[in-house]
Amino acid sequence: MEPTIVSGKEVSNKIKEEIAIAVEKLKSKGVKTPHLAAVLVGEDGASRTYVNAKVKACEKVGFNSTLVKLESDISEADLLAEIEKLNNNSDIDGFIVQLPLPNHIDEQKVTEAIAPEKDVDGFHPVSLGKMLLHLPSFLPATPYGITEMLRHYNIPTEGKHCVVIGRSHIVGSPMSVLMARNSYPGNCTVTLTHSRTQNLAEITKAADILIVAIGKPEFVTADMVKEGATVIDVGIHRIEDASRKSGFKLLGDVKFDEVASKCAFISPVPGGVGPMTIASLLKNTLLAVELKN
Ligand code: GUN
Repeated sequence: MEPTIVSGKEVSNKIKEEIAIAVEKLKSKGVKTPHLAAVLVGEDGASRTYVNAKVKACEKVGFNSTLVKLESDISEADLLAEIEKLNNNSDIDGFIVQLPLPNHIDEQKVTEAIAPEKDVDGFHPVSLGKMLLHLPSFLPATPYGITEMLRHYNIPTEGKHCVVIGRSHIVGSPMSVLMARNSYPGNCTVTLTHSRTQNLAEITKAADILIVAIGKPEFVTADMVKEGATVIDVGIHRIEDASRKSGFKLLGDVKFDEVASKCAFISPVPGGVGPMTIASLLKNTLLAVELKN
């Protein structure tokens, strides 16, 4: 079977075009230009790449952006003070603190310090609680992006069995909630699997929709996937590859080359979930402005 490639790159470009039009409308009505800030602590290479991509995306859609770069040895108290400044800065509509943070800083404490009305990552307990209650809120960017991909490709979800691999607070757990909600995409029967799951392959083989966020390169192989399934790959891993100019290649959590031919739909890495995460962050920032006005 020839699968349909779920191109997050294409869908995210379409969403960014829509956001750019909405920004123009806001400006013509005299409403402020949306302004997203990103806090980056330390010099982690991957985090720097992601934050730079977020700032670049802001420019593309006509948002203002601010990058707050802090030293890796900043104290927790000083970081919390920076967050308070952003909470109180009325020109900043939303902001994110890029994770992971250095070990001496409590991520939960930092997440809870962000004003819920500026929590465009959707990681604050208030945002997550509203999501659970199906109230309007900022949805976590990666799960939100995945629902928008499913919507764009009209992938049927009602009554389907969705299996999620990985129960992280930022991807797997919220993903399982969104897929079970009474809406489209949603209305799935959801199985959330994790490191203690027994007979994982038996469960994944029963999945109509398989969402993989386990953080292990090429973990999902063809024998774990049902014929005709939809497979969404959240993983992204830099693997050294001397044959490439960059010195590395990018792999997902799914062994794409052997899994793809079994699928009705499959998302690639790169060009799949990654760009959707950024588009969702922009959508949340636009929503923050709209909610304020
Ligand atoms: N680290 C990995 N993914 C994310 C994300 O979506 N937001 C933030 N702030 N940090 C991350």
